[in-house]
Amino acid sequence: MTDEVWAPGRVNLIGEHIDYHGLSVLPMATGRRIRVRFQPRDDRRIRAVSGPYGSREFAWSESLEPVAAGDWENYLRAAAQAVAGHWGAGRGVDAEIESDLPAAAGLASSSALIVAFTLCLLRANGWRAGFEELMQVLPDGEQFVGTRGGGMDHAASLASQAGCALRISFEPLAALPIPLPADWGFLVAHSLETAEKSGSAREAYNARRAAGYTALRKMGLASYREALEMGQTLSPAAQVGGRERLPQADMTLEESDAFLHTTGEARRVEEAVRAMECSDGARFGELLLESHASLRDRLRVSSAGLDRVVEAAMASGALGARLTGAGFGGCAVVFARQADLPKVRQGLTERFYAGHPEFREAIHLIDAEAGPGALAGQLQ
Ligand code: GLA
Repeated sequence: MTDEVWAPGRVNLIGEHIDYHGLSVLPMATGRRIRVRFQPRDDRRIRAVSGPYGSREFAWSESLEPVAAGDWENYLRAAAQAVAGHWGAGRGVDAEIESDLPAAAGLASSSALIVAFTLCLLRANGWRAGFEELMQVLPDGEQFVGTRGGGMDHAASLASQAGCALRISFEPLAALPIPLPADWGFLVAHSLETAEKSGSAREAYNARRAAGYTALRKMGLASYREALEMGQTLSPAAQVGGRERLPQADMTLEESDAFLHTTGEARRVEEAVRAMECSDGARFGELLLESHASLRDRLRVSSAGLDRVVEAAMASGALGARLTGAGFGGCAVVFARQADLPKVRQGLTERFYAGHPEFREAIHLIDAEAGPGALAGQLQ
């Protein structure tokens, strides 16, 4: 008998490059998802086919090794390893994977695949798992494919609720749905530059994470939570050559910038939640722009295309816009009043996409409707 599971991608509204420091973020699930149709097998073989990427097959054991970097089989193996590490290796599956979620766009398609395939393997074996248990194994599973991301993508894919953003905290783990005001709308606009998570973007991502940790250590702090709690009592950043910089003599500019981005972004998330709760669209929009500026100037994870998408969106009547996901290409999230979305879409098409023959509206400029997460949307 064929069964089916799915997991959505996510759009992060605000809180970028801070989940791996244990700080709260505010994404939502997209209506676009990865679906896995499957039949349990009587042996331990895992066989999966995905239209554009071909088929893969391997034996499920408790100690799997990755295959060549960049091969999509690694995502299947990451899921199999995550399940095996907690529940053991079980019956394999014959699976067919389908997706309407663009890859390498900053919408967490690889995490959605790992989440969906993990749910498939659990379901095939009759094993049940809740949010907390899944969050213990999924972010680690991703390290199997070489990225050291935080837990935002898996948490959003699992626990989002329709019509809501999700405030995710990590220490301790919590996921709180925040209803979106009825007249708020979001688009996801591709920069037409691809963010290949398995290539050089991965090293750049890991370098940002490392700079943030080194800054913390050099300041003698145990965590960013502590940094935020101490707030004003820390020696203030000084203005050097027109920009803020931490005063510690042994701190590099990259480390200082990573620290200032992280603490500033964490404060913006809290303010954005308040703005959402009282439907203050003007303030929410400003916070998105401040986040983009910090990602561009301090963390340096934006790209020329992403900056231009943000500018074009603002010139077309958006209230705010920013890069979403890891950056280095990929997508921007664009925020506007629902009633203004057609005008913003039109403006982006004329100002940014005109003259790009590779532009496909259905893939590159999509409505981001807050859909349900995998756990909310299907019985486990
Ligand atoms: C990637 C990671 C996430 C998060 C973002 C940046 O999408 O998978 O965990 O760190 O980058 O906010």
